[in-house]
Formats: sequence, structure tokens, C-alpha cells
Amino acid sequence: MVAERRFFSAKMVTKTVDLRSDTVTKPTESMRAAMANAEVDDDVLTYDPTAFRLESEMAKVTGKEAALYVPSGTMGNLISVLVHCEIRGSEVILGDNSHIHIYENGGISTIGGVHPRTVKNNKDGTMDIDLIEAAIRNPKGELVYPTTRLICLENTQANCGGKCLSVEYTDRVGELAKKHGLKLHIDGARIFNAAVALGVPVHRLVQAADSVSVCLSKGLGAPVGSVVVGSKSFIDKARRLRKTLGGGMRQIGILCAAALVALQENVGKLESDHKKAKILAEGLNQIKGLRVDVDSVETNILYFDIEEGAKIKGDNLCKNLEERGVLVMPESLSRIRIVLHHQISASDVQYTLSCFQQALSGAHEENGN
Ligand SMILES: Cc1ncc(COP(=O)(O)O)c(C=O)c1O
Repeated sequence: MVAERRFFSAKMVTKTVDLRSDTVTKPTESMRAAMANAEVDDDVLTYDPTAFRLESEMAKVTGKEAALYVPSGTMGNLISVLVHCEIRGSEVILGDNSHIHIYENGGISTIGGVHPRTVKNNKDGTMDIDLIEAAIRNPKGELVYPTTRLICLENTQANCGGKCLSVEYTDRVGELAKKHGLKLHIDGARIFNAAVALGVPVHRLVQAADSVSVCLSKGLGAPVGSVVVGSKSFIDKARRLRKTLGGGMRQIGILCAAALVALQENVGKLESDHKKAKILAEGLNQIKGLRVDVDSVETNILYFDIEEGAKIKGDNLCKNLEERGVLVMPESLSRIRIVLHHQISASDVQYTLSCFQQALSGAHEENGN
């Protein structure tokens, strides 16, 4: 089946507020200038100076020995799992609501031969430590069991609404991993959001992890790419795997230059993204027919529910909003996701709230309510 391609036409509306994801940001003028002027060379041969600068910076920020630029978060996670689970028949413990488990095409098993063992994600994004421990296979049963080699966490936990995993929790999972001779990987697609929301430096938040995959093209607002970080030997293996998977690219300094600007200019904006998410959540919660758990909004992601009595369904609401230039991501007929990013202004938030108000009051009027 050919995927449907959709283009949102600026012709239809005078203003577009794109809240589908933090992946939708456009490169800024300063990123485009940095890209145009980037010093580049062949990165597969390890000679690209801008890639080297970005990787060194990311290793420093995350407190790890080394880093490697990869085309996407999905590839970053896949490479990390494959490095830690290089023996076939390995098993990884991960959240049942995690991105790796749900949205990455099952790549760890189809490509890596790695068996996933899921543990329930709680509402706050954690998995109970005793459930993680119970999921670790007893080596005495190796005749029949796969071998547990890795635990994966996700911080922030996107599907749980951008929830932050604390240092204390992450350290405890790290201790558990060590106790059983396992590795710990963090899908840190939005680790900078977590660090800012918790008021903890990134390197401290991921101290217990053997590897982290950090997305540059989510909250940080770079156009393309992720970085995996870990020990030097982890990154050496990751580099070979990146080539195997077709992720070895040549003059990637062009992309890394934009990411360096993102690191410089956008980390400082994350706190404001989180505040705007909260304002939006509070505003939506006051609109008749919508319900948001305002207290649960910790970072830049929020989910809201359309109440049962409301006369508008998710698909119609999304269509109505789209006609007004407001784009959101439906999860079901009654649940919708909104993600804030640095290209959403305070007035965009107010405009969005007024569009929701109009969409819902229109629906009530149409239905005689
Ligand atoms: C938590 C999380 N991990 C990993 C990814 C994968 O990133 P990419 O889309 O770059 O493959 C995403 C993408 O949205 C994500 O939200």
C-alpha cells in the first residue's frame, strides 16, 4: 500500500499553528546559514570536522566517552539495542508503551533477532522495579529461555504524555541492571526536555545508562538526526552497525551544523515550551466538552480527551481545527495529542485556544446544545 502523502496548504488559512509534533519545526535562518557555511568532509571515512564537533559536544553534555551521529532516533535505538545484544537469542526488557516497542517496526527483532519482553508502563512513564526484576530471565533456565541482556527506559516517556523519569528512578534501574550483569539503554529522544523540567543536568540524568539515543530533531528543533552516546568501545561497534544499516552518510557536517545551532539556541527555549504546554492544557480544560489532566503535563506533550457527552468526535474536531490552520494529532476518536516546540509562540497558544472554543461552541450550536 502506498502511504498517503498530505500537504497542509498555506493557501487555505492565513495562519498555521502546527502542534502535531516537535518534529515539524523548520530550520531557522541561523541554522540555514550554518548549514550553508559548514565545513565538511567524508564522515564515513571519519573526516567530517563538523560531525566531529557535534559528537564531541554531545559526548560532553551527556557525560559519556564518545558519540555518533545517526540519521534518526529509530536507528539510534536499533543500533544501541543491537550493540548490547550482539548474541542472537538476547532479550531486552522494555516498556509496553515505549517507542521502541510500538513505533519502530519491531526492528530489534526483525533485524536484530532480539526478543522483546515488555513490562507495563505506569501512567508516570516508569515500570515498577520489582516487575522489571521479575522479568529478568533466570540463567539456570537457559536451555529454554532467551538471555536477558538489556533494559531500556524512555525519558521523557512520550506515549505517557512526555513524563520525566527522575534521577533516583533511573539510578535504581541502573543498579538493578548492574546487579544482574545487564546493560541499560535510554531512549532519550527528549532527554533535554526531561533535564530542563527536572532541573538536572543531562549528564547526571543519564549517568546510570550504558548508552543513550538523543534526538536532535524533536524538542531541540534541528531538521535531521540523532546522536547515540556511550563508551568508546560501544561507539566503535555502533559505527560499524550504522554502516551495516545504510546509515553511513558522507558530508553530514551540513546536518550537524544545524544541530550545533539547535544546541546553542534552543535548549534555553524548552522551559518556555513546557510553560506553553501547561497554559494550553489549562485553557483546554476550561472548554466544555474537553478534559485534560493538567497536573500530568510535565514537558511539551499533552493529551486531551473529548468527553462522552460532547457532540463532536475527534476526527471532526481535527478537521474543523485544520480549516482554521491548527494542526493536531488524533490518537483515537476521543483522544488527541498536542506537542509544543520552539516555533509556537504565546499568541499561537491563545489563537489555538480560541479556535478550540469556536470549534466546540459551533458543534454545540449545530447540535442544539
Ligand atoms: C520517544 C521517541 N523515541 C524515538 C523516536 C524515533 O525518532 P525518529 O522519528 O527520528 O526515528 C521518537 C519519534 O518520535 C520518539 O518520540
